[in-house]
Order: sequence, then C-alpha cells, then structure tokens
Amino acid sequence: MTITSGLPADFLYGFATAAAQIEGGGAEEEKASGRGDSIWDRFCEKPGAIVDGSHVNRTCNHLALYKEDIALMKSLGANAYRFSISWPRVIPLGGKDDPVNQKGLDFYNNVIDECLKNGLTPFVTLYHWDLPLALFDRYGGWLDKDSVVPDYTRYAKLCFETFGDRVKHWLTFNEPWCVAVLGHGQAAFAPGHKSNTEPWIVGHSVLIAHANAAKLYINEFKPIQGGSIGITLNGDWAEPFDDTPENIKAAQRKMDFAVGWFADPIYLGAYPQSMKEILGDRLPDFTDEELALLKDSSEFYGCNTYTTNTIKAIRSDDEFAGFTTMAFDKPDGSFIGPKSALGWLRDVPWGLRKLLNYLYSRYEKPIYMTENGWCIGGEGNLRYSYVFNEMKWHRIDGCIDDEGRVQFYRGYTNALKEAIEIDRLDIRSYFGFCDNFEWASGLGPRFGSVHVNYETFERTPKDSAKFLMDFFNKNVAQPKSTSNGH
Ligand code: BGC
Repeated sequence: MTITSGLPADFLYGFATAAAQIEGGGAEEEKASGRGDSIWDRFCEKPGAIVDGSHVNRTCNHLALYKEDIALMKSLGANAYRFSISWPRVIPLGGKDDPVNQKGLDFYNNVIDECLKNGLTPFVTLYHWDLPLALFDRYGGWLDKDSVVPDYTRYAKLCFETFGDRVKHWLTFNEPWCVAVLGHGQAAFAPGHKSNTEPWIVGHSVLIAHANAAKLYINEFKPIQGGSIGITLNGDWAEPFDDTPENIKAAQRKMDFAVGWFADPIYLGAYPQSMKEILGDRLPDFTDEELALLKDSSEFYGCNTYTTNTIKAIRSDDEFAGFTTMAFDKPDGSFIGPKSALGWLRDVPWGLRKLLNYLYSRYEKPIYMTENGWCIGGEGNLRYSYVFNEMKWHRIDGCIDDEGRVQFYRGYTNALKEAIEIDRLDIRSYFGFCDNFEWASGLGPRFGSVHVNYETFERTPKDSAKFLMDFFNKNVAQPKSTSNGH
C-alpha cells in the first residue's frame, strides 16, 4: 500500500546549530581564524557566568570539522542544515565601516558549498546572539538603535551579496526575547545586564534592525536571488491552568509577553495591548516610518519551541511573563508531562499542536519550525564500545541509546504531523538539535541527537537522530516518479 502523506515534498528537516555554540576548536584556532570577540567571549571570562567554566572559543570544533559534520547529517538522512553566521567572524569589529575578514567569508562559503554538494538546503540565521564585542564597547550594542541598525544592516547586506546566490532561506534573528530578557533583563546571558528598562529598548532595536535587513533583502535581493526571509521567535504554549476567565486571560498575557512582543508588531502592526498597559512609557513607540518598515517584513513565522507551561493568574514578580505564574501542575495535582534534566523543560506534545494552531490562526503565515529538542542529564558520561574511523560517521548501527529523547521526538513529530495533516496548517520544516555549548549552562546539559566528546571532538549519533530522520524520510512525500520509473 502506498502511504500518502500530508508532509509536502519540499518539507525541510535536519539539524539546527548556532555559530557560537559549535564552531570553536580552541582559543588559538579562533585567533588564527581572524574572528573578532563577541559579547560571549567576555561573558565567558566573567567568573561564575558559565556553570562549568567552559568557553565559547572551544566548543565542537565545527570550524575544522564542518565537512565531517555535513557528511554525517547527510548520512543520517537530513535534507537541510540550519546554522548561523557569526557576525564577528565576518566583520571582526562589526561596524559598517570596519574591515571584512576574508577567512570568515571563505569559511561560510565552504559550509554552504558543502551543504549543496551533499544535497542539504542551507537555512541561515544572521544573528544568534554573538554581537561583536567592539560594538558593545563603542555604543552599548542593542541599546543604541540609531548606531546598531546601520551596522547590522551592512552586515546583513554583506551576507546577502556574498552568499545569496546559494542561500535561499534567511532568518534575521534567533529569539530576540532571549537577547532582550536573558541578556539585558536577568543577566543570565551576555552581556549580563539586569534591568527592567533595557529589555524593552533592546527588543525595539532588534525589531527595527530586523525590518531594515528584511526589507533590504525583499526589495533588492529577492527579485534577483529569489529566496525568502523571516524571523525566528521562541515561544512555548501557555495553557490556562483551568477554565476560569482570570487564568484564560493570564495565559493570553503570557503569550503576549513571550511571542506577541515581537510577532504582533511584525505581523499585526502594534505591540500587544497588555504590554502597553503594564509597561507604559518603558515600551518605546514606533514611528510611522518604522511601522511601515515592519509591515510584511517577515515572509514566514520561524518557530522555536520546546515545552508547555500551565499559567495561573496569581500575581508573580516576573514582569517578563506579564506577572503571571508559570507552572507545570494541573488542578488534579499531576504534572502536564515528564521532566527533563532542565527545570524549564517538560515533554508535552499536545502543547505543540495547540501552539502551531494559535500561531497560524493569529499571524496567518507559513511556519518553519526552526528548533525543538530535549535535554538529558548524564549523557556526557556515556561510554561506547566501538571506535569511529575518521570520515566514517555513517556507521549508525551502534547509536547511543537516548530513549527519553526518542520519546520526546515521537510525541512532537506526531503532533507536527497532525497539525499538518488534520489541522491543515502550512508548516514547512523541522530542525532538531546537536550537543553543543549550551550558553550559560556550559557543556553539561546535552540537547543533541548527535553526541559530541568534548575531549576528542568525536561525534556519535544517538538513537534519536536515527528516529527523527527515519520519521521524515518515511513521512515526507517523495517527488512523484513517472510511469517508466524515472
Ligand atoms: C536557543 C538555542 C539553545 C536552546 C536550548 C534556544 O533558546 O536558540 O541556542 O541551545 O534554546 O536551550
């Protein structure tokens, strides 16, 4: 029997990474590559900032191992690779009049060519949190909209000019919420500021930088290069704790603060009313010119999502969650899903389907799922009884058993399939995740479907990599063959 699947033939699936999380092979190598420091280099040197004291300059050595990594992804069955370009690798000091690092451009040219050679569609993020440190020192980075917007736009333009003949999928930013709140509100991420005014300024600058770069692409590059551009937002489903009107309202407010903050101005033309009410003057106003620029500036909705929370109206002191209380418990005292190695992450597949339906009906854009994954503790200590020969990554008979992650992906891919096949949503991609530098949590927590040995940089696929790729290979419609079999 032929199974006719609702996952379209051009559905993209594969692994997602970020430059700062995987490229570094060591301090010396990074220096030799000509990369400028980013705000993460300084943050890593701050005592206590990174849980295990690891450093962004030594992570997975993708800089040297990109060919093997891409071959591995291909051998596992992926058809796309989402990665980010490091701004300070291509413009070490970051500014619009600062020199370009040719070695940096060469590296990304090679990565892109290698993807295409292996039949992987490159899906490229321009900003995944590694702001050139020089720009932070010059004017405070994202705090100074008038300075940072032209610098970011020039960086984006350089990328479109250099890579746009081969890259047809662009993301301007990964998760502006994290840049604003974790970096400038809670001091959890670089640059490590704690404030209740800065995040709203930073968020505003990021939105305007996004709009400038996206419109530049749409107006000047798209007509020739023919790709598409959008933004990726983090957002987990907010399930009302129960069906009381207060809790339903609180859950919507949580969605406003997590997703609407960025998505509403871009797709609907204004900040959410609930944010305006709570933040008053601290939330900047848009000029008419900015609003016009934001309109139609994201051709799709890029969705990173990991979990679901139950939301209660009981007032918390978390302004970034609209003063709601975020939890995982249900009225009957049970939890909404099994827990992972990280406190914020539980396995709630039905939440994914609800989230996708919410996003699609509210913003009416095709959705690319650009990140999703599961964290297991203790995987760092795994030992395996066989050795990999270099360049022979495709031997996957001895995958590391990561049943918890397989379980997570089983539920989430099924929810995705239902959202496409039953709810008829336009969803076009799905990217899981590789072990890497988990920002302030260092190298400890592992999200990967591919294990990385941080001593030797050896890669070993886990069962979940095989599960994921098998799922998509089975469920994505294959291009139709003609009657003579060709
Ligand atoms: C980020 C990733 C990160 C992941 C897991 C997302 O917020 O985009 O860089 O590794 O979450 O914490």
